[in-house]
Amino acid sequence: MGKVSIRTEIPGPRAREWQQRREAAVIKAFSPLAPIIIEHATGATVTDVDGNTFIDFTGGIGCLNVGHTPPEVVEAVIEQTRKFLHTDFTVIPYAPFIELAERLSQLTPIRGARKAVFFNSGAEAVENSIKIARYATGKKAVIAFEGAFHGRTLLAMSLTSKIKPYKQKFGPFAPEVYRIPYANCYRCPYGLEYPSCGVHCAQQLERAFVTMVDPQDTAAVIVEPVQGEGGFVVPPPGFLPRIREITRKYGILLIADEVQTGFGRTGKMFAVENWGVEPDLVTVAKSIAAGLPLSGVVGRKEIMDAPDDGTIGGTFVGNPVACAAALKVLDVIENQHLLERSQRLGEYVKGRFAEMQKRLPLIGDVRGIGGMVAMELVKDRQSKEPATAETGRILARALGRGLILLKAGTYGNVIRVLAPLVTSEEELSEGLDILEGVITELS
Ligand SMILES: Cc1ncc(COP(=O)(O)O)c(C=O)c1O
Repeated sequence: MGKVSIRTEIPGPRAREWQQRREAAVIKAFSPLAPIIIEHATGATVTDVDGNTFIDFTGGIGCLNVGHTPPEVVEAVIEQTRKFLHTDFTVIPYAPFIELAERLSQLTPIRGARKAVFFNSGAEAVENSIKIARYATGKKAVIAFEGAFHGRTLLAMSLTSKIKPYKQKFGPFAPEVYRIPYANCYRCPYGLEYPSCGVHCAQQLERAFVTMVDPQDTAAVIVEPVQGEGGFVVPPPGFLPRIREITRKYGILLIADEVQTGFGRTGKMFAVENWGVEPDLVTVAKSIAAGLPLSGVVGRKEIMDAPDDGTIGGTFVGNPVACAAALKVLDVIENQHLLERSQRLGEYVKGRFAEMQKRLPLIGDVRGIGGMVAMELVKDRQSKEPATAETGRILARALGRGLILLKAGTYGNVIRVLAPLVTSEEELSEGLDILEGVITELS
């Protein structure tokens, strides 16, 4: 028996009623990917108000590595809500924040003494990582990458590199942000091949110091170890180590934005571990607290302690309920061996995608690392023209069959899998059968 159960047309009658109310009451910019209304969810499945059950490959955009409503986390949340909901940590501190800082610091792949601080959203973590880096170095410039996504607040949006829909009409942007190409081997901007290219793109960082910005004025380079919204772009092995080498040479801080890649998504706790790269600061969010709003910055003690008292903060940051949830998430990752499961999930999905690619010319590229796997759809394998409209149609039709999917990529032509790491092989197989059927029909 499969998990999917579709009893009405999608959206069903109740969902349609709610969607009409949504349209009347909620801003247009919040138009949903799946025009259903969720009633409850558990593990890798979501049931809507019309009684339809879907397999969820989106995990709330990568926030649910431990799955929907894991019982241990729910219990921890209930327990904490009975004690107290809020104090503002800088007014009256509480244990879950401190314990989480201790545990997360231990888990972060940085040598020596580390410290942590918590916020609410990924964007806030990114903004604060830059504030900390600037304070610690006394320098202003930040270098980011093409195809990057770091959030939607002013500085985070300025670091983000996709114009529509994230930046168009939202300027002016924050100054002192510079940009170089990311290592996108499927669409190499230089038309080169790895490894004979000598990681030419990473060398552009050296070039940027000649043509764009003085390394003496540069506080940090911020990089997603694997680009998320940019299309699950996995850099070749030499890229991140080279970026680390160059930043170290100039005394520039390296910030790894692990908001999407962290907490086991790539088969390691943090994606940088895949390449043995040691950043100075790491930003975390999304899957840290099983869907509760929590984010953080973890980093080398001397950098984290540079900002003076009162310079970093926020009313709701590091909420006690969210911290209690996060502590339990760390237990679940360990107890349920989710790093190994991420590897297995990724191998299975990648294998199925590679099989599909042999038959379906629409699939131009299959890539991924650990449980972070995607396919890029193209109209023509030679020209690599993005199949953006086709990708949208595939997502819509898959939803009607009971599979909730997300796209990504600069051209919106990448189907990415952010399925909870607790998704069973049966659920994965059922979801992938739906996807394969839909792509075959639309090919
Ligand atoms: C790598 C990365 N950084 C930052 C963010 C922003 O996080 P949030 O949406 O929680 O502000 C995201 C969100 O997708 C992300 O993927």
